Amino acid sequence: MLAFSNWQTQQKAYSLFRLRNAISPVDGSPGSIFASPSRHFPNYYYTWIRDGALALREIFAIIDVDSEIANQLLKDYIIYSRNNQLSQNLSGRASGLGLGEPKFNMDGSPFNAPWGRPQNDGPALRAYLIADYTYNLWQSGDQNYVFNNLYRAELPANTLLKADLEYIAHHWQDQSFDLWEEFKGDHFYTRMIQWKALLKGTQIAKLLNDEAAASFYLKQADLIYESLKLFWSENKNFIKATINYSENNNYKNSELDIAIILAVIQVGNITGPFSITDDKILKTALALEKAFAEIYLVNEQKYTHDGESIGAAIGRYPEDRYDGYRTNKLGNPWYLTTLAMAEFYYKLSLAVHYNPQIISNETFNLFLTLQSKTDTNLIARNKNLAEIFKIKGDTFLKRIQFHTDDTGHFSEQFNRFNGISQGARDLTWSYAAFLSCIRAKNKINFINP
Ligand code: NOJ
Ligand code: NOJ
Repeated sequence: MLAFSNWQTQQKAYSLFRLRNAISPVDGSPGSIFASPSRHFPNYYYTWIRDGALALREIFAIIDVDSEIANQLLKDYIIYSRNNQLSQNLSGRASGLGLGEPKFNMDGSPFNAPWGRPQNDGPALRAYLIADYTYNLWQSGDQNYVFNNLYRAELPANTLLKADLEYIAHHWQDQSFDLWEEFKGDHFYTRMIQWKALLKGTQIAKLLNDEAAASFYLKQADLIYESLKLFWSENKNFIKATINYSENNNYKNSELDIAIILAVIQVGNITGPFSITDDKILKTALALEKAFAEIYLVNEQKYTHDGESIGAAIGRYPEDRYDGYRTNKLGNPWYLTTLAMAEFYYKLSLAVHYNPQIISNETFNLFLTLQSKTDTNLIARNKNLAEIFKIKGDTFLKRIQFHTDDTGHFSEQFNRFNGISQGARDLTWSYAAFLSCIRAKNKINFINP
């Protein structure tokens, strides 16, 4: 096995290579992006709005390093995405409810078979990304491009970002399917991304002198923020993923879901409610870790062969029945969800480095109690909070290394009994999650464990 830091370097290059390969493949339209190259069992050879936006976020992150390629990929994605918006599909008509459509064929045509639709996190993830890109283009003087393609103050909206923002602002209260495409209801993940997208959208609307829109987006963002408070469960002591199920939820009994942590790291707020340092989030992360530590056999192995501590492998939610091929099986840990836990602790480490008081004693004690059972090293007395959380993040990243071979392939899941990869091969989102995690880690390299 490679040394931890060498492995990270190698895996980062490989992940970026895989991500680039997934965008605009020869038999897809420019700007399309496959969720996985696997075309059967399972067939993931489609552009999912969610997976696509998260992948392009990583391309946006390298814009300063590789500006020509990154801009080209983003601009192709913008054309492809606008085309998606303009399609009549099973979620609804063009530029109307059709924006909730979760996935498209690689040639950009609508996918016309039964699916869990709409999925309203999609337009929000896309708007969040495109708002950041719009700001960047505006500052660098590319204002014509912004007017022509991204944001123009007119209704009905004729530009990508404006259309997404209008859709989000008018439809965030609609029920939709969750990010796992399984249940219709109101979802914390979806609402969090919608909240962030509208706040970003408010800034862009102001920048482009669309004052009325700016205040409308802000008002809706505030209402979403209020609605987020409803997901906290006082008696469970964590945030629930879904409320107001439209049909009976007859098996997600624990109500725990890694979707909470995904929302928090993607939104990335450092202080305040629903931020990285919110006690409620740390409580939720601890409850998730405890649940997954107990159910997956692979988690009985707590050390690498070199005696280094490895964190629990993490799945989507404890009762998951999707094994990557079929539902009604036993769910497994996933790469992207285990990486989310690592990223969460890296971000927490950075935040407490600047403000050690931000986590309450009560919550930190809860953290320590749970660690003492699994990893005594972590409580070494002379370590500060930032170091402790960095080490904690490393344990999850080491778990990923432990289940990855020299080739660097990540699929969707790894088996809960033997740790072997399964489900869609080379899942683009797994690589994007790795890159996002490493970006967070690079920001705390100055903190010595
Ligand atoms: C069931 C899974 O649980 C869900 O997440 C997935 O999107 C669909 N099957 C399609 O693969
Ligand atoms: C199944 C996952 O549940 C969903 O979140 C994802 O968008 C698709 N697979 C495609 O990767």
